[in-house]
Amino acid sequence: MEREESLSTAPGARGEPVEIGVGMIGHGFIGRAHSIALRKLEWAATVPSLRPRLVAICGRDGAATESAARRFGYERASTDWRDLIADPAIGLVSNGGPNGLHAEPTIAAARAGKHVLCEKPLGRDADEAYEIWTAVARAGAVHMAGFNFRFFPAVALAQRLIADGALGEIRHFRARYLQSWLVDPAAPVTWRLDGAAAGSGALGDLGSHVVDLARHLVGEPAAVTARTATFVGERPGGHVDVDDAFAATVAFEQGAIGTLEGSRVAPGRKNQLAFEVNGTRGSLAFDQERMNELQVHLPEAPEAGEHGSAAPAGMAAAGFRRVLVSEQHHPFLAQSWPAGHTIGWEDSFVFEFEHLLRAIGDGTQVGPLGADFEDGYRCAEVCDAIARAARTGTEQQISYRDLDDHT
Ligand SMILES: NC(=O)c1ccc[n+]([C@@H]2O[C@H](COP(=O)([O-])OP(=O)(O)OC[C@H]3O[C@@H](n4cnc5c(N)ncnc54)[C@H](O)[C@@H]3O)[C@@H](O)[C@H]2O)c1
Repeated sequence: MEREESLSTAPGARGEPVEIGVGMIGHGFIGRAHSIALRKLEWAATVPSLRPRLVAICGRDGAATESAARRFGYERASTDWRDLIADPAIGLVSNGGPNGLHAEPTIAAARAGKHVLCEKPLGRDADEAYEIWTAVARAGAVHMAGFNFRFFPAVALAQRLIADGALGEIRHFRARYLQSWLVDPAAPVTWRLDGAAAGSGALGDLGSHVVDLARHLVGEPAAVTARTATFVGERPGGHVDVDDAFAATVAFEQGAIGTLEGSRVAPGRKNQLAFEVNGTRGSLAFDQERMNELQVHLPEAPEAGEHGSAAPAGMAAAGFRRVLVSEQHHPFLAQSWPAGHTIGWEDSFVFEFEHLLRAIGDGTQVGPLGADFEDGYRCAEVCDAIARAARTGTEQQISYRDLDDHT
C-alpha cells in the first residue's frame, strides 16, 4: 500500500454534504470547464454527499493563474503542482494539464492520499497510461479518466439501449471526430503538435474519445488496420511530428466491425463527434452538434400514432426518428431541468464530477458508466495499435495487460 493517508468522507451532522477540497491542475480550456462544473454542482438540484470546495489551482504563468483563481473562486493559486500535492486541505486532484503533465502529478497525488480525475488521453502512450493506472490503483485512490462524452444523456441512453439488447446483436460501429483548427497552414505549433508533450496528434486527442465510446458501447477492439497523415509538417513555431488525421478499421472481440476517424483539418467541422451503431434489430446515431437528440431506428418497437394508436404497418420501418433526450427519466437529467429544457456540452462535466463525487463519498463504482484509469489505459492500447498499424501497413492484434502484469 503506497497511499500515505486516506480521506475522511464520513457524512456530516444531519446528513449535510461533507466538503472535499479540490486542487485543479491547469486553467486553460479544460481547467475552465472543470472549474465551472464544480461550481455548478453547488447549485444542482441534487448534490452528492461530498460538496466540492475549490482550494487551489495551478498553472504555468503566475499572473494568469492568480487571475483564474479569482475568477473561478479558488482560495489559492500556484505555479508548482507539488504545492497541491502537499496541501492537506485537498482530497481530490483534477489534472487538466497538457498530456505530458498527466503521469507525474496524478501518481504523486494518489500516493499522497488524494483521489484523482485525469483528462484524456490518460498517458501519451499505452506504457505511460499503464504506469498511471497501476500506480494509482495500488495507492488505493478512486480514479476517473476524463471521457466526458459518456455523460451526455443521449450517449448514456444509447449505451442503455445497446446493453438492453434493443438493437439486437451489434454488427457495426462507426464514429468520427472532426475539427478544423489546423486547416490554415499558418496556425502555429502548440503543445498539441509536439509529440514529446502530446504523444500523438488527432489520434490521441480526438481518437481517444471515439475509441472510448467504441469500447463503452460495443466492447473491446481486438484488431485494427489504419492510416495516419500529417498534411502540414512545418508551421510557425516549428516542426510538426504528430498526425493531423487518422482513419482506422476495427474488429471487435464480440464480432462487430467498424470504422474510426479523427481529423483536425476538416473545414466546416469545428467539433463534430458523431457515431452510428447498427445491430440485427435496429440502429442508432448521435451527433454532438445536436447533443440533445438521439436518432433511433427500432422497427420492432411499438410506435404510438398521433392519437395513441399504433403506427400504420410499414411506417415504423422507414428511416430514423429523433428522440429528444431531455425527459427527467433520461440518464442524469433528474438533477437538471424540467423535461424539454435542453443542456449543453459543459453539463457533461457537471454529471462527470457528480458521478465521481458519489463514487468517492458513497463508495459507488466509477465504472461501467464512467471511465476509470483501466479504461484510460485500454483506450491507449487501441490508439497505440492504430499508430502501429499505420506505421507498418499491417493489421495489428490488440492485447491488454492486467493490473498484475509487469512488462
Ligand atoms: N474531455 C475533453 O473533451 C477535453 C477537451 C479539451 C482538452 N482536454 C484535455 O485536457 C488537457 C488540457 O488541455 P487544454 O485544452 O485545457 O490545454 P491548455 O493549453 O488550454 O491548458 C493547459 C493548462 O496547463 C497549464 N500548464 C502547462 N504546463 C504546466 C506545468 N508544468 N505546471 C503547471 N501547469 C501547467 C497551463 O498553464 C494551462 O493552464 C489535455 O490533456 C487535453 O487532452 C480534454
